[in-house]
Amino acid sequence: MGSAIHAERLGKVYRHSVKGVPALDGLSLDVPTGGVYGLIGRNGAGKTTFIRIAATQLEPTSGRLDVLGENVQGGERKIRARIACVPQESRPLYFLRVEEVIYLYLKMRGLEPAEARRRTKAALDELSLTEYAKRLVSRLSGGLRRRTLCAMVLASDADVMFLDEPTTGLDPIARREVWQAIRRASREHRTIVLTTHYLDEAEQLSGRLALIERGQLVLEGSPGDLRGRVRYPYRVTLQGGFTHAELESYGQVSDVEGGYLVFTREAEARDLAKVALERGARLSMGPVSLEDIFLDVVGKSIDSDGDAETAEEAA
Ligand SMILES: Nc1ncnc2c1ncn2[C@@H]1O[C@H](COP(=O)(O)OP(=O)(O)OP(=O)(O)O)[C@@H](O)[C@H]1O
Ligand SMILES: [Mg+2]
Repeated sequence: MGSAIHAERLGKVYRHSVKGVPALDGLSLDVPTGGVYGLIGRNGAGKTTFIRIAATQLEPTSGRLDVLGENVQGGERKIRARIACVPQESRPLYFLRVEEVIYLYLKMRGLEPAEARRRTKAALDELSLTEYAKRLVSRLSGGLRRRTLCAMVLASDADVMFLDEPTTGLDPIARREVWQAIRRASREHRTIVLTTHYLDEAEQLSGRLALIERGQLVLEGSPGDLRGRVRYPYRVTLQGGFTHAELESYGQVSDVEGGYLVFTREAEARDLAKVALERGARLSMGPVSLEDIFLDVVGKSIDSDGDAETAEEAA
């Protein structure tokens, strides 16, 4: 019982989809039990669709998906008791106060009143919502509503938590508080499936990551694994000392503000550093970021079958 979620050739075609283009197209992956699993990909890649199927809100068209050992088709009741979800677009109940909405959610999940109260207090504190505890949800700002929703879910006892863009629209301090709460839940051996467009966030939080593109899995593994799978695992920025043409032999070069950005391999990065030192050029060097990997891999997949629009037209 290694994985919390097991997807096998999962497919989804929405009834009103454009020209029958699938939202999920034979997606197979395993989310290990405990820890944060990041789902990344462009808009429309299929992340929310995957989460909605796993959270038993939507039926798959083909393939199979097991959550905590239960098939989403048939095992909905058992699964629902053990999961919690922050959907991409949603707001907590308007007519309740912040502390009530969290407390009632925990009570509804079957927690004892004393335990629900204790967790509510801790959640308010964890996400700096204590000063808003008595405020009606309808009078909160958008970001505060989102924080309330995160507090509800992260305070729950759910074994699997789905967080679909939990930090979108949050200020930088609130974002970090949500990260802390996610880390805490992960230390408590919860499994957290997280989607985000902030790739620094995905990289910092996730033990493993899946990059989805057009409903298919493109890359999967730990941030370190992903780095090992790209052509150029190093990024070097240079100011002065070189021409664009000279740098081309080292890897992939692009012009950036005041200099060049070179994606390269380890040996070439060392050579480049040596030459830069000799020529007195300014240089900074490090492993590629998740954003670099994303742009490289997704950029290539768009290039390889031409313009997305034309591909759709032809289909
Ligand atoms: N209710 C729906 N009816 C028809 N098509 C849908 C529906 N919901 C999503 N889609 C389509 O399914 C595909 C996947 O959408 P999904 O919402 O899963 O993407 P996503 O990866 O979550 O994107 P984003 O990053 O923008 O949230 C898209 O092409 C989208 O247009
Ligand atoms: Mg989405």
